[in-house]
Amino acid sequence: MSIDDGATSQSHGSEYETIDQRVLIVGAGAAGARTAIELVDQGVPAEDLLVIGKRGHGDAHTTWARGGINGALGTHDPEDDWTIHAADTLNEGHFVNDPEKVETVTQRMPDQLRKLDEWGMPFSRAEDGEPDQRYFGGQSFRRTAFAGDHTGESMLDTLIDQAQDRSIPYSENVYITRLIAEDDRIQGAAGYDMDAGEFVVFDTDVVLLAAGGYTSIFHRHSSRDDENTGDGPALAYQAGARLMDMEFVQFHPTGMVGDRYGDEWDGRLVTEAVRGEGGHLYNADGERFMERYSPDQMELDARDVVARANAQEISEGRGTESGGVYLDISHRDADFIKERLPRMYQRFGDLGVDMAEEPVEVAPTAHYGMGGVMVDENGQTDIEGLYAIGETMAGVHGANRLGGNSLAETVAYGEAAGEAIAEHLPVGGEDDDLLHERAGSHFADLTKVVNSEGTHDPEALLDELRATLWTHAGILRNGEEMTEGLEELAQIRHKAADIDVGGPTSRSFEFAMNLGFALDVAESILKGGQKRTESRGSHARTDYTETDSDQRHNIVAQKDSVGGMGLSTRSVGEPSESVQEALDEGHELDYHHLE
Ligand code: FUM
Repeated sequence: MSIDDGATSQSHGSEYETIDQRVLIVGAGAAGARTAIELVDQGVPAEDLLVIGKRGHGDAHTTWARGGINGALGTHDPEDDWTIHAADTLNEGHFVNDPEKVETVTQRMPDQLRKLDEWGMPFSRAEDGEPDQRYFGGQSFRRTAFAGDHTGESMLDTLIDQAQDRSIPYSENVYITRLIAEDDRIQGAAGYDMDAGEFVVFDTDVVLLAAGGYTSIFHRHSSRDDENTGDGPALAYQAGARLMDMEFVQFHPTGMVGDRYGDEWDGRLVTEAVRGEGGHLYNADGERFMERYSPDQMELDARDVVARANAQEISEGRGTESGGVYLDISHRDADFIKERLPRMYQRFGDLGVDMAEEPVEVAPTAHYGMGGVMVDENGQTDIEGLYAIGETMAGVHGANRLGGNSLAETVAYGEAAGEAIAEHLPVGGEDDDLLHERAGSHFADLTKVVNSEGTHDPEALLDELRATLWTHAGILRNGEEMTEGLEELAQIRHKAADIDVGGPTSRSFEFAMNLGFALDVAESILKGGQKRTESRGSHARTDYTETDSDQRHNIVAQKDSVGGMGLSTRSVGEPSESVQEALDEGHELDYHHLE
């Protein structure tokens, strides 16, 4: 559907299109697609929905999720079940995950995988024809189903086919800039249609944010620069919803690094599947250093452990000249590598590196925000009618996410939220005047931004912010550094009030919008990090190196009455009896058993 189908209105001197839609899904990746499919399957007419993305159709960040999707199918390990999947998720999340949400995901996943299979997802297969499952870090059994190393891409293609079969309307290149809520109820959303070059208002009963996370606001990151800029969490926060656990940022152990690959590849993911398929890590002295850090689980320990080990080797001078370590799978047969890791093999091949002959260079890279919008068991925020799922929501992963659980969360929560929205979908009748008044005033502000001829380049300010977070809230942090980080952030905020934007169609306008979101998200990371005076999972402090059992809680950020950011804590629930039993059984992968 085209945004041009809407009616033209005017308010506060700004002209804009208005689109009436009962459900607006912001984010065209797996979580958004899966929710839309479920809504239609629950009986909501497809024409009542609209899925919008800020990139081209089919090109969401999901396509970059490579190595696999978790679900206790038991293809190779029949003793696995969803309770052990939940136990592993809680264990590696260091027990600050919301057990109810963990159970929603893990319990639904075997059926979700079967459904994807029925829908034609090209899973790699075991000999008996079942979806194959590989090892991924921190998991007791082979539980990660996959399609080569293009799992996210194949899954999104499958979901888009299903959405098309159901005639679900999509609109691409639309950027949501503001959610409009009143009396804790969503009224709609305002944004900018980048193709048409016009403002647009969505008059809706429900908005679902499936707009990704926030790790591309760190200097080294695995996403493309214009995705995962924190839009989802920031939109919800600015509308009055609460954020949770923003300090928990996952650094993936193996991002590309090195002059040989070029700047455009810096930080991009080398999938965990390379280690899952037997890859080893070596330092520049040729030592397989994981023996020292994790003798039992080696390269398949959880991401926080492996990422810190890589970082330590590099910072203590045992890294490569380019500031990395070596990841080597050349002991595996070339045909095996090409079959199990085709995209990695091809990418490095294009860069002149044969993975079957030599190692690749890797270093930690910001990969996933475990924090996000605080939601209830169905993905609904504090604001009625506003939902957040996928990487935009908080609660499933605690202090450290298991690889393969992000794709799982997108489809499990897509189904759960779709069911809940369909059940509670209101019948409209909200006050449109208020929506238009608020949208018009927002567009008047945006018009000033569009036409601003100030001093600072928004892209350069975003880069400054990325450097600040990388330096002050990176893989190792401490209180003093985070205080300095907040000071730097205040200076960037000050400069952001004096920017130079070359009109609505210039990239600077997009950077200016990204910057507005990134500033709030960065503040929540630094403030949350300061408040959490312990080390837990991905949050590793050099001034508080131990985990403090008294801080087994979530940190919640909310806009206070004068527009500042206030923090509080929230206690964590307990798992169900069956998951507690699985925890008590103490399952754990023994790496050496695999060799
Ligand atoms: O390494 C990977 O393939 C990433 C997977 C994930 O983050 O879940």
